[in-house]
Amino acid sequence: MRISLLLFSSAALVAATYTPKKPEPAKPLTAAQKADYAKVIQPIFDAHCVSCHGPKKEKGKLRLDTLEATLKGGKNPTFVIGKPDSSMLLSRVFLDRTAGDVMPPKAEKPLTEKQKEALYAFVGGQPIADELAKPAIADTKAAAAAAKDASKDAPKAKK
Ligand code: HEC
Repeated sequence: MRISLLLFSSAALVAATYTPKKPEPAKPLTAAQKADYAKVIQPIFDAHCVSCHGPKKEKGKLRLDTLEATLKGGKNPTFVIGKPDSSMLLSRVFLDRTAGDVMPPKAEKPLTEKQKEALYAFVGGQPIADELAKPAIADTKAAAAAAKDASKDAPKAKK
């Protein structure tokens, strides 16, 4: 009993001091980043992405209906905060509207410049300034309202 306990504790010590050469884990989001996400980013995803990336459909194995799901990614990682230029999600959003891979897909209402800028700032780890947050939120509200009207006009339209 004594010996095995001793062995166990030395193994634990080795495990504790050994640092594998793995990439640094993503830093947890700050409270301000979480607030920006809730206020500006999640509503964009709700209005433009969750119909295909949420509880009903999980295209590309990706859900964007919560912060946790967004950070988890789909078949591929979405983004690492602070590295906007190597983000797969951003690159698909910023593609030319004629590109086959653009998100949301060509047939859907595109994101506005302000919405894209807000997304870029967030992924870049920058605070979303009020001058940007306000018009981005307004664009999102307009898109959500338009989508609601469209579904009222055509209740049987297949989504
Ligand atoms: C009409 C449905 C639809 C909407 C709306 C939509 N997507 Fe997609 N998305 C897809 C489909 C289908 C795929 C899987 C095929 C592919 O990768 O092109 C996909 C794949 C993706 C991927 C790649 C996932 C992976 O891990 O490979 C990302 C990132 C993405 N979408 C982001 C978005 C974002 C951000 C929005 C909203 C701004 C959005 N999508 C809106 C249909 C949609």
